[in-house]
Amino acid sequence: MNDQATVLIVDDEKHTRDGLRLSLEDDFDCYVASNAAEAMEYLNNDRIDVMLTDLRLGEDDGMKLLEAALALPKPPVCIMMTAYGSVDTAVEAMRRGAYHFVTKPLNLDEVEILIKRALRSRTLEHENVALKQQVERKFSIEGILGQAEVMKPIIDTIQQVAPSRATVLIEGESGTGKELVARAIHNLSGRPKANIVSVHCAALSPQILESELFGHEKGSFTGAQERRIGRFEQANGGTLFLDEIGEIDASTQVKLLRALGEQTIERVGSSKPISIDVRVIAATNRNLAKMVEEGKFREDLYWRLRVVTIQLPPLRARKSDISVLADHFLKELAKANGKAYKPLGEDALPAMMNYDWPGNIRELRAAIEHGVVMSNSNRVMLKHLPSYLLNPNGLGIGLRAPSLIAAKDAATAAAPAGPSNDPTIKPKSDLDITEAEHHLILTALQRSGNNRTVAAEMLGMSRRTLQRKLKDLNMVRTHRRRVTTPAQESVS
Ligand SMILES: Nc1ncnc2c1ncn2[C@@H]1O[C@H](COP(=O)(O)OP(=O)(O)OP(=O)(O)O)[C@@H](O)[C@H]1O
Ligand SMILES: [Mg+2]
Repeated sequence: MNDQATVLIVDDEKHTRDGLRLSLEDDFDCYVASNAAEAMEYLNNDRIDVMLTDLRLGEDDGMKLLEAALALPKPPVCIMMTAYGSVDTAVEAMRRGAYHFVTKPLNLDEVEILIKRALRSRTLEHENVALKQQVERKFSIEGILGQAEVMKPIIDTIQQVAPSRATVLIEGESGTGKELVARAIHNLSGRPKANIVSVHCAALSPQILESELFGHEKGSFTGAQERRIGRFEQANGGTLFLDEIGEIDASTQVKLLRALGEQTIERVGSSKPISIDVRVIAATNRNLAKMVEEGKFREDLYWRLRVVTIQLPPLRARKSDISVLADHFLKELAKANGKAYKPLGEDALPAMMNYDWPGNIRELRAAIEHGVVMSNSNRVMLKHLPSYLLNPNGLGIGLRAPSLIAAKDAATAAAPAGPSNDPTIKPKSDLDITEAEHHLILTALQRSGNNRTVAAEMLGMSRRTLQRKLKDLNMVRTHRRRVTTPAQESVS
């Protein structure tokens, strides 16, 4: 196979064609054409890497040839030749996509250098496109965006586990994309023609959840006026997504265990087993392992569910993805709100990077929507985003600040604070507790701008309890001295 680069020389003057061919044929595979039709013939049937064409081709227009060449599925790099004095037209050709131009009379060395440079840039461009496609394929499957290192193993797991029948447990804080991942697994499962059926376990009372999942026979309980097919049966041949699995009661846990183990279910009020072929994906924002330890979740069910687990990181652990996610939402939400796409203003991203996003990607999406709707310029600036982003010490949308929760977790791990029902857990010392609490309370007060109501909310305690603790810890005066944010006591 000859892998020398190919150059198509197009000129209506024979001596130019011959001169160019002579000078280039040592380094390139050369084709020559004297008009646009001949050139198109080559372009359509041969692999042409570079087209070198005059802008004036007798009757034909070199600009039209340029456009036709660039419209091909694999366009060549185009270099235009132009008579001295008609540089304007050549510049126009570059605007339309030509790589460069040379002026006549030609300097043949210059032409050769230009062709080599054009080929290098074309190779780089191809490599770039290939890499980009690879990255996009790998890191944005089924609408799951994310290029942060922490996302790579997750994307790999999704791709690996999707075609299997394995039960998957997805863990992650609220808004981290658990449902999106569940749908991606289903879509890539090879069973996407069948349904994915979702059940939000936290939203239903135990009795209703049981009949929702397994169905019921007529008259099986008061109010069961008709036979009802449950979600397991509806999902037959497809996927059942059990959201908030940590919330299901003990009796439904037993039934679920059986359904998963034996691939059969019984409708409420019937003892006839019905075979099912359902792939189960469960999600939770609770720590199921801890619930097992505490006896609140069956260990055998836990192991059945977590054949494969996917732990979705909070957004604050993948801040490098904020910009790509934000841009995606800017486009999506501009369209949804009938507005033109506007990029982020330069002050917006730093503020977004500086914020902890307790509500994760859902909160980011909402913040962007706020920006899209409020922006009255050609950018979405920080001032168009929700005001809590202006003051990163403030609170997000009604949620506790996560770094504070993390601080609390860390402090709890170091020295379990507060009353514990577990007699086996012993505080290291009273001093540790006091210090941990002191630190937490102080941080909350700082973050809330000294607003006790907000600080109490951040700490997950009532305002009264906070008052008492402040008194107990003798912090009433100290915190006032140490908190530097302007006092907002009047509003607390
Ligand atoms: N990686 C991602 N790329 C693009 N969009 C995402 C990504 N992760 C989540 N989202 C979007 O964020 C929003 C929240 O995601 P989702 O509902 O899947 O979260 P969740 O973990 O199920 O939340 P919850 O625990 O509150 O039910 C959705 O609009 C979803 O499309
Ligand atoms: Mg969800």
